[in-house]
Amino acid sequence: MEESFYVTTPIYYVNGVPHIGHAYTTVGADVLARFNRLMGRTVFFLTGTDEHGQKVEEAARKVGRQPKELADLLCEKFKDLWVKLNISNDAFIRTTDLQHVQIVRDIMQRLYEKGEIEKRKYSGWYCTHDERFWTEKEIVEGNCPECRRPVEQIEEENYFFFMSRYQDRLIDYIKNNPTFILPESRRNEILGFLNNNRLEDLCISRPKSRVTWGITLPFDENFVTYVWFDALLNYYSATKYLAADGEESWWPVTHHIVGKDIITTHAVFWPTMLMALDMPLPRNIFAHGWWTSGGRKMSKSFGNVVDPFDIVQTYGADAVRYFLFREVPFGLDGDFSVDAITARINSSLANDLGNLVNRTFTMVKKYFGLVIPKSFSVEPELKALSEGILEKMDVNLKVLSYHRALDAIWELVTYLNKYIDVHKPWSLAKDEQDREKLSSIMYNLMEGLRFLSLYLYPFIPDAMGRLYSCLTGGEVWLVSIKSAAKWGGLNSDSVFSEIGQLFPRIEKTDIKEKRGKVEEPSKEQENVISPDSLPDNLIDIEEFGKVELKTAKVLFAEKVKGSSKLLRIEVECGQKRQIVAGIGKHYKPEELIGKTVVIVANLKPAKLMGVESQGMVLAASEADTLTLLTVDREIGHGVRVK
Ligand code: ME8
Ligand code: MG
Repeated sequence: MEESFYVTTPIYYVNGVPHIGHAYTTVGADVLARFNRLMGRTVFFLTGTDEHGQKVEEAARKVGRQPKELADLLCEKFKDLWVKLNISNDAFIRTTDLQHVQIVRDIMQRLYEKGEIEKRKYSGWYCTHDERFWTEKEIVEGNCPECRRPVEQIEEENYFFFMSRYQDRLIDYIKNNPTFILPESRRNEILGFLNNNRLEDLCISRPKSRVTWGITLPFDENFVTYVWFDALLNYYSATKYLAADGEESWWPVTHHIVGKDIITTHAVFWPTMLMALDMPLPRNIFAHGWWTSGGRKMSKSFGNVVDPFDIVQTYGADAVRYFLFREVPFGLDGDFSVDAITARINSSLANDLGNLVNRTFTMVKKYFGLVIPKSFSVEPELKALSEGILEKMDVNLKVLSYHRALDAIWELVTYLNKYIDVHKPWSLAKDEQDREKLSSIMYNLMEGLRFLSLYLYPFIPDAMGRLYSCLTGGEVWLVSIKSAAKWGGLNSDSVFSEIGQLFPRIEKTDIKEKRGKVEEPSKEQENVISPDSLPDNLIDIEEFGKVELKTAKVLFAEKVKGSSKLLRIEVECGQKRQIVAGIGKHYKPEELIGKTVVIVANLKPAKLMGVESQGMVLAASEADTLTLLTVDREIGHGVRVK
């Protein structure tokens, strides 16, 4: 029997339209689902909508509709977005599905009969927005510690789940299962909380006098079920009526992917509920970071959301998917901006990958026609690199380290680009004697591309599906990657099809970061979002003309003593100069020699670590990478750049 793999996203509230944050989690689950299918595992990938509770009830009231009506409309928006983003979910659950409602009622009844639930009088601080009670200690100056809205003192009778009984068992479980909660920072947070606080019992009902939109408790019809109790059970109920082989083959869940806003409900409420039900706990809960916009968490309630429909329409699903997982390690926060996505697309997709595919296809067609060339010799290094990526992907994706998986894949992209530059097929093509060598090199490139199409398919399914088909005539999603990721799989002498440009460069963009519409942002929050506008530090051409940029050839380079960052570089730019540059972490001295770089030639000399610098070398840097500006064609030294 193949291993089964069950991955979930949160079920999203239908109180607003989907935004990039929702897309993020769902694409993350999709990458895992697609990869695991290629690995031959049987996959159940579940997403859906959370439709009960006060939030939805209120949103509906605001637009003058019944909650179910609003849910019907918004649920379609989510489904539509998933189609546009190429999401391959196996099921879509709605908590208003009759089967789900029945299962929740059955489970509530079971817990009640088992003595896990009791009725109590309770008074506490209640946050309507987050639909939960807080203790005196938790509230901050009369406000909800989570959303900062005022809380109100409420006294009422309610049903409580004896969550406190499970505190020690939960602590032990987390300790004994190091990957149960990831990333580690979140695990430590939850453990810290459990070790330093008494876990309270959980209020799991709402009186109908306050909230009517919910699942009526089977044992008391004056109450509805607390929306989180209803919502969390979706992960279980779906296996009962939406999955092919029923609960037995899917339980427990492999990964619950959630945002860090809902880690407590998933890592504390949910496991204790399962303990009370004598059910196995999920293997992993992963809480990723937040996308911010204008420096603040993107959320419906703040009104600074980026419209994913717009973004997908402008850049395409593949590019958006790639950007989300390349830009920020899963677990950390990232700021979404048009500049950032454009830069990523241009550098990685258009330049690195797109050009590689384009150059390779064009050369093979030119030298061999539309036929895969023969291979006369294997390059052991390329073979090992290509085959080795699979294991790295599997290991990293098991802990949702998407960026590491992409790093591993990108080593092959870089290798192949270099391979072209080093072997210069266009020179070999001039001499008939080099025909076999040329043939092998072009085969290796095409075969390398086949590996890339397999590995990148989970991330950018559309383009890589096409690439795979063009190379092999087959469908990538039908592939068993363990046997396909073996060097030599591409058939020489078979015909291939042309692919066209995969990722065109983006020159300008007309994206406007839209505001959310459902909830009105408050005045104070409105000011946080700056509108698109021209930068306020414009200069004119004369000012620019004062800067003398020149080409310069690097003659010599060495480390500055006592510094890991600084290099002393001697350049020829019409005259000899020495420049001290802070690029030592990114370039080895010997790599620089012979390069033509661009320098600022009329900068006042300055001393760095005691060494005089007569100018500055231009480089672009972001996060932890840095690249020198060089020239696109041969050109002399000391030539003005403008
Ligand atoms: O919490 N950045 O639904 P929800 C990254 N119905 N991800 C974000 C994000 C952001 N700025 N904003 C939202 C609920 N998300 C409940 C869940 S599950 C049994 C019930 C993503 O519509 C992220 O996955 O508020 C977050 O956890 C989820 O959307 C919250 O969606
Ligand atoms: Mg939310």
